[in-house]
Amino acid sequence: MSAPSTDLAAGAPAVQGRRQILVTSALPYANGQIHIGHLVEYIQTDIWVRALRMHGHEVYYVGADDTHGTPVMLRAEKEGLTPQQLIARVWQEHKRDFDSFGVSFDNYYSTDSDENRVLSESVYLALKEAGFIETRDIEQAYDPVKNMFLPDRFIKGECPKCGAKDQYGDSCEVCGSTYAPTDLKNPYSVVSGATPIRKTSTHYFFRLSDSRCEEFLRGWVAGLAQPEATNKMREWLGDAGESKLADWDISRDAPYFGFEIPGAPGKYFYVWLDAPVGYYASFKNLCEQRGLDFDAWVKPGTKTEQYHFIGKDILYFHTLFWPAMLEFSGHRTPTNVFAHGFLTVDGAKMSKSRGTFITAESYVTTGLNPEWLRYYFAAKLNSTMEDLDLNLEDFQARVNSDLVGKYINIASRAAGFLIKRFDGRVQDSAMHHPLLQQLRAAIPQIAANYEAREYNRALRQTMELADAVNGYVDTAKPWEQAKDPANAVALHETCSVSLEAFRLLSLALKPVLPQLAQGVEEFLSIAPLTWADANTALSSQQPINAYKHLMTRVDPKQVEALLAANRDSLQATDAAPAAAADANKKSKAAKEAKKAEPETPETISIDDFAKIDLRVALIVDCNIVEGSDKLLQLTLDVGEEKTRNVFSGIRSAYKPEDLKGKLTVMVANLAPRKMKFGMSEGMVLAASAKDEKSEPGLYILEPHSGAKPGMRVR
Ligand code: 2FM
Ligand code: ZN
Repeated sequence: MSAPSTDLAAGAPAVQGRRQILVTSALPYANGQIHIGHLVEYIQTDIWVRALRMHGHEVYYVGADDTHGTPVMLRAEKEGLTPQQLIARVWQEHKRDFDSFGVSFDNYYSTDSDENRVLSESVYLALKEAGFIETRDIEQAYDPVKNMFLPDRFIKGECPKCGAKDQYGDSCEVCGSTYAPTDLKNPYSVVSGATPIRKTSTHYFFRLSDSRCEEFLRGWVAGLAQPEATNKMREWLGDAGESKLADWDISRDAPYFGFEIPGAPGKYFYVWLDAPVGYYASFKNLCEQRGLDFDAWVKPGTKTEQYHFIGKDILYFHTLFWPAMLEFSGHRTPTNVFAHGFLTVDGAKMSKSRGTFITAESYVTTGLNPEWLRYYFAAKLNSTMEDLDLNLEDFQARVNSDLVGKYINIASRAAGFLIKRFDGRVQDSAMHHPLLQQLRAAIPQIAANYEAREYNRALRQTMELADAVNGYVDTAKPWEQAKDPANAVALHETCSVSLEAFRLLSLALKPVLPQLAQGVEEFLSIAPLTWADANTALSSQQPINAYKHLMTRVDPKQVEALLAANRDSLQATDAAPAAAADANKKSKAAKEAKKAEPETPETISIDDFAKIDLRVALIVDCNIVEGSDKLLQLTLDVGEEKTRNVFSGIRSAYKPEDLKGKLTVMVANLAPRKMKFGMSEGMVLAASAKDEKSEPGLYILEPHSGAKPGMRVR
C-alpha cells in the first residue's frame, strides 16, 4: 500500500536530464562458486546501480557467466558432464547467490549464447577488415597424452631456484622467485602428468601495436576516473611514439570450449575475446526482452553511458583490449572503468585451511544476513583501488553497533508509543523540526557520495546523523514523557520526529540495504523511497503499521559456524581443474603433520574440558551414505526439539542395523560442518588403536543402561 506523504519543498526536484546508463560487473567464470571476494564487486556495483536508479535514471545492469576456456572444458570432463551441462548448473548456482545478496541484475546471461557468437564474430570480422588481425606461428607447451596445448597454469614442475616441487610456471610459492614456464625443472602436465613437449601452431593476433591503437588509447585514457588507472595506462603505453603495446593472441587451438573463429577451422576465440563482448550480448538479450534499441546504445556518438566495474587485476583487459576492440569495430567506447582492490579476511589472503575462503552459499546457509555483508563492504569501500579487509570481529561490532544499535533502535523505540498512544499517526507539525531539516539537507550529499563511489563517506555521514537522532531521543526521554499524560503532545512530537528521522536514514541506507528498506516502506506504509523523498515527510493521514523487528544482531556463533563450514567444504566439493597435484601436496602435508602429532596430547585445564559439551545421544536412525565408503549418516536424539544429523567415518566397523536404537556419546557443541553430503551437526566419539593399520577397528562409546538422551557427560 502506498501512502500520501507530504511534499515539503514546492515541486520536489524532477529528474533533471534522465540519463541512460549501462552498467556491468566482471563476468565470473563458470567453473567455480561465488565467494566473498567476488561479492565485493557485485555489491559495489549493485549499490551504485540502485543509487542511480533512485534518481529516476534509466539504468540497466547486466551480467553473465564467463563460460569458455580450458578450465571449464576440463572441469566438465572431470565431472563427467558436457561443458554445456556444467555451465547450465553453475549458472543456476551463480544466479541463486546473486539473488540472495540482492544483486539486482536486469539480465543475467551466458557468454555461450547465440547473441555472443554473432557479436564476437562481427567484432572480429570488423577488426580484420580494418587490418587489425594477423596470423603468426608460435611454439607452446603441448600435452602429448591429452593432445592439447597447455595454458601456463596447467604446467607444474620444480622451482629452478630452490628446487621446490609442484610449483606453477610463473612463480615459486616456497622461495618467491619468478620465472618463465620453460625454466621449470622436470615439468609435468597437470592434466595428464605427462612431460610437455614444444609444438608449433598458427595463432591469430589483434595488432594492438598498430599506431592507431596507441593514438586512440592515449586520448581515451584521459577520461579515466581513477588516477591509479591512468598511471597504469601511461606505464603500459610508454612515452609518445614508444609503442610499448604488444599484439594480443586471440586464438586457441582445438580442443577448446568456445566459439570457432570464422574462416579458421580448428581455431577458437580465446575466452578473453568473447568475455567482454558478453556484456553486450547480455544487454542485447535484454533489449530483445524489453523492446529497447540496442544499436542506439552501442553506436559511436551515442549519448548513453557505459560503465564497467572490475577488479584491479583485469584492468589491462578493460582499459586496453576492450576499448580498442570497440573503437575499431565501429562501436562506442566505455564511459569509464571502475576498478576495486582485493579482499583480505582478518588481514590475510582468503584461505581454505583457515575457513576464510567463504562461499556466498555457505554464508546464506549458515544463516547470516546478506545485508550485513553489504553494509560492511560499503562501510569499507571508496573510489580507489585500495584493498579492503573483512575483519570478522569488526564486522560483528559494526553491524551490531551501527545498524542495530544506532539505526534500527530508533524505530523500535518510537513505534510502540506511536501505535499505542497516537493511533499510529505522526504529528504533522513535528515534520518541520530542525533536526529533520538537518537530515533532509544532508541527503543530496549522501546521494552524491554514492555516485562518486565513496560509500564509506556516505555511511559515515549517515551514522553521524543517526548519532544526532539518538542524542535527540536521549534528551527528550520519551520513556519519561510517557509517564505523565500532561506530556502527551511532547511525547507525540518526540516519536514523530524519531520516526521521520528513521525514514530519512532508511532513505540514506536504501542503496546498501534494499531488503531492509522494503521492510521499512511496508512498516511506514509509504511508496518505495527515491532521492526525491528527501523533500517529503510522513503524514498523519497514513498511520504506520505495527513494528516488526527489522534486523537482528550478528551472533558470534554464526561467524564461527561460517568459518567451520568453509574449512571443509571446498576440499570436499570443489573440484578445481588444476587441483589434482595440489590435493596430493595437501595430503602429503597432512601426513607429515600427523607424524608430528605428540603421542599424548598436552595437558588441558578443567575449564578447557568444560568447553566441550558431551551428551548422551540415541541413534534414532542410521543409513549408508551413497557415494562414500567411509561414512554412515546418523540421526541422533540429544534431548532437543529436533534431531541432529551427523556423518561419522565408522562404516568400516558398523552396519546401520547394528547401531539403530543404541545410545552413544556425541560432542554437541562442535560448530556444524558442511560436508559434501550435507551438514554434519556434531560428532560421535569412537576409540581406535594408535596404529590403525596394524590393529584395525573402531569402537563407538556406549553409556551404561539408564542414561537418557541429552544427559551431559562430564
Ligand atoms: O577474471 C575473471 O574472473 C573473468 N572471468 C572476468 C571477465 S570480465 C569480462 F571481460 F567478461
Ligand atoms: Zn623456489
